[in-house]
Amino acid sequence: MKRTMLITGATGGIGAAIVRAAAAHGYRVFATGRDVAALHALPADPLPVDLRTPGDLAGALPHLDRLDALVHCAGIADVASVEETPHEQWTDTLTVNVVAAAEITRILLPALREAAGHVVFVNAAPGLHAVPRWSAYAASKTALRELADSLRIEETPHGVRVTTVYPGGTATDLLAKVRARFGQPYDPAKSIQPTTLATVVLTILEMRDDAYLSEVSVQPTPHGTPPGGAN
Ligand SMILES: NC(=O)c1ccc[n+]([C@@H]2O[C@H](COP(=O)([O-])OP(=O)(O)OC[C@H]3O[C@@H](n4cnc5c(N)ncnc54)[C@H](OP(=O)(O)O)[C@@H]3O)[C@@H](O)[C@H]2O)c1
Repeated sequence: MKRTMLITGATGGIGAAIVRAAAAHGYRVFATGRDVAALHALPADPLPVDLRTPGDLAGALPHLDRLDALVHCAGIADVASVEETPHEQWTDTLTVNVVAAAEITRILLPALREAAGHVVFVNAAPGLHAVPRWSAYAASKTALRELADSLRIEETPHGVRVTTVYPGGTATDLLAKVRARFGQPYDPAKSIQPTTLATVVLTILEMRDDAYLSEVSVQPTPHGTPPGGAN
């Protein structure tokens, strides 16, 4: 039987790389996002959804008897101080980054349990905490970690595995925009490549049955000058 994956954020830099890697590993992939043209360019079944309206998700997701992998990769990461952030932006950030992930998980839990499946949450960079001008994003990702950690315990009796991935800077449009807003340099060549992160996610999913990775931090390789200078 062909293994199945449903992924959010499939049209993004990281999500699209995961879709391609999963398809290459033989998964049938259900890919969600808002950009319909980008969805149709993927080797996947396209599922256009707007995660800002989680009440619509039950009607938008396919009925699946079994689901091997659910990957939560959608995210928004607006850079703004508390003073600059209207409540609508807080609501969108928490809804897309957390509430929709909880609701999709809830809807698909029977199929995940049937397959003894795996839920993967793509969180924020390792150690992200108390970042001035990024409070909504940081709060949403902290809540996402709590969601994942509680779910892991709840689903232990049902055989569903839960993994959180913490990626450092990964070369996508999101990182380019965030670095520009913070006035920081951005060099895609010195960032994690989305295909590398996709390999990490597939490694998590493809591990032998006796163990799994519950949390994975991924850092870009340092490009500094070694002590004593390069030689
Ligand atoms: N890039 C990094 O350095 C980095 C580091 C750590 C963690 N992350 C996390 O990795 C994940 C993917 O990031 P990325 O860099 O690949 O970002 P990206 O290229 O901007 O992709 C974001 C994805 O989220 C989807 N999305 C946003 N709002 C949505 C909405 N209202 N409804 C449905 N889908 C929505 C987008 O789909 P549409 O455009 O089709 O709506 C897109 O597929 C995010 O959760 C991010 O926080 C990224």
